Amino acid sequence: MSLLDAVPPAPPESAALSPARPSPQTLDLLALRRSQKLMLIGAPGPTDEELEALLRLAGRVPDHGKLGPWRFAIIAGEARERLGAALADLIAGDATMDAARLEAERRRFLQAPVCVMVVSTAAPHPKIPEWEQVLSAGAACFALLVAAHAAGYAGVWLTEWPAYDDRAREVLRLGPGERVAGFVHLGTATQDALERVRADVASRTSRF
Ligand SMILES: Cc1cc2nc3c(=O)[nH]c(=O)nc-3n(C[C@H](O)[C@H](O)[C@H](O)COP(=O)(O)O)c2cc1C
Repeated sequence: MSLLDAVPPAPPESAALSPARPSPQTLDLLALRRSQKLMLIGAPGPTDEELEALLRLAGRVPDHGKLGPWRFAIIAGEARERLGAALADLIAGDATMDAARLEAERRRFLQAPVCVMVVSTAAPHPKIPEWEQVLSAGAACFALLVAAHAAGYAGVWLTEWPAYDDRAREVLRLGPGERVAGFVHLGTATQDALERVRADVASRTSRF
């Protein structure tokens, strides 16, 4: 049985849901989860069916005004090579570019079997600040990562230059005002990740 068989179907609107869902496994996952370096993520990745379920879970994020101010674009199969090559072509003439770097750029999406580009579609709204819409897109990235971990997949949330370079907008099919919140690469870890330095929460916590 796939782990995702354990994912309940989407509840209908207005279904009664308990706001507290005690889950020791979720606490364990949050305490110990780690991203994996992209170069250490390989096949297999989530199947189309699993990905559909993961995206449904990622879409259940807090979202002021019920705007759904994000969208997901899947980079899988042959699109991985096509998109990587198109992005690499954009920077092939850059002064700092060399053959090895260009080849790595071409292979950007070939390492992990699946990448989800999470796009913030935040836009001016009479009531909902754009900032809050952007935060919801970030939450969707994290929810996707956590859901993938819980389903047994490794992942990493990256941005890098394609998220910020205007030349990449057409290749990535970004509409006016849209911004890349993250490229969430998903697959299977080829080795364990090592814990990294964590922000000291106590020094960042105060009380009124
Ligand atoms: C919005 C965002 C963008 C990121 N972009 C990059 C990136 O381009 N390159 C990189 O090496 N790490 C990037 N990271 C950091 C990786 O996701 C990093 O591996 C991760 O934060 C490790 O923490 P974790 O093990 O708690 O997931 C980014 C993180 C965030 C939140």
